[in-house]
Amino acid sequence: MTKKIAVLPGDGIGTEIVAEAVKVLEYLNADMDLGLVFEYGLIGGAAYDAHGTPFPDQTLALAKQADAILLGAVGGYKWESLDISMRPEKGLLGLRSHLQLFANLRPAILYPQLVAASTLKPEIVAGLDIMIIRELTGGIYFGQPRGVRLLDNGEKQGYNTLVYSESEIRRIAHVAFQTAQKRNRRLCSVDKANVLECTELWRQVVAEIGKQYPDVELSHLYVDNAAMQLVRAPKQFDVLVTSNMFGDILSDISAMLTGSIGMLPSASLDANGKGMYEPIHGSAPDIAGKGIANPLATILSVAMMLRYTFNRADAAERIEQAVNTALDANVRTADIYSEGMQKVSTPVMGDAVISALKEGV
Ligand code: IPM
Ligand code: MG
Repeated sequence: MTKKIAVLPGDGIGTEIVAEAVKVLEYLNADMDLGLVFEYGLIGGAAYDAHGTPFPDQTLALAKQADAILLGAVGGYKWESLDISMRPEKGLLGLRSHLQLFANLRPAILYPQLVAASTLKPEIVAGLDIMIIRELTGGIYFGQPRGVRLLDNGEKQGYNTLVYSESEIRRIAHVAFQTAQKRNRRLCSVDKANVLECTELWRQVVAEIGKQYPDVELSHLYVDNAAMQLVRAPKQFDVLVTSNMFGDILSDISAMLTGSIGMLPSASLDANGKGMYEPIHGSAPDIAGKGIANPLATILSVAMMLRYTFNRADAAERIEQAVNTALDANVRTADIYSEGMQKVSTPVMGDAVISALKEGV
């Protein structure tokens, strides 16, 4: 049976990195007879330019009927002055929300070859392997009411709403506990329960669900402390679970622990394992079109796709191993370059992964 992948490269470096990830998938598709077929669509600024909306109906239809979605990145200077409802980010948020991709898995793994690329001391980050689970379809990103209103005194006031219902907290908590069960059985839930009622409820519900998982050690941290602990002693963590906005922020912090945001993949899953796979970084308009972006986060995202949506851990492991081998061969894109290494372009990094796949058979 064929498996359909909706490919949405998006904007900026999105097209460059997705091309490399597709190259890797096409190689494996032929080599392992995976039965994958690719269909392309527009999202973000590219969609706005072509159709006047960052989230065209045909893209939603394509994503809905696909088994998995591969997304590059959205956004860029060109669209920054548009009304917020037409910004490229709305395309990405629309996909997450319409497909109910509520569970965002963001693993932060430090490859030993990149210890020197991290801004933190080697002993703090060496061997790092943590998983951030971010709630992705609720919270302040989607809460109503929202907007900018005019006050009686003539001043404008911006407002957003942080909301979580118990069911939204329960379902992400289950994903987090079950993920921890497959790892080192430690889960830290991050909130701001000392100030925000919504996250006080978050803490209560997570603790309640925790009773069903006595084999997982549950702890709670306030988000400010969690941010500090992530740079002070990140290896104390196994799995972290948190709300949409806190997860956005904490996952960028954890990216830097691994040397570069160009290394971090992600999976955004619905209740049935259908998923959208994307690097956690953005469209990087400052380096777009230069052929210097790191494709590894996107290549590692397709490994997650093979593992989580297509149940092909064997193929996923081949990709992860090939990334390791490529790094062993000392090829580096600019973001992970250090002295003595060979600085390569985006496509050459993709080629290095494919050569490693060929050698690894
Ligand atoms: C991310 C990004 C997005 C987010 C942006 C591009 C809307 O920062 O996936 O982390 O805030 O979720
Ligand atoms: Mg982010």
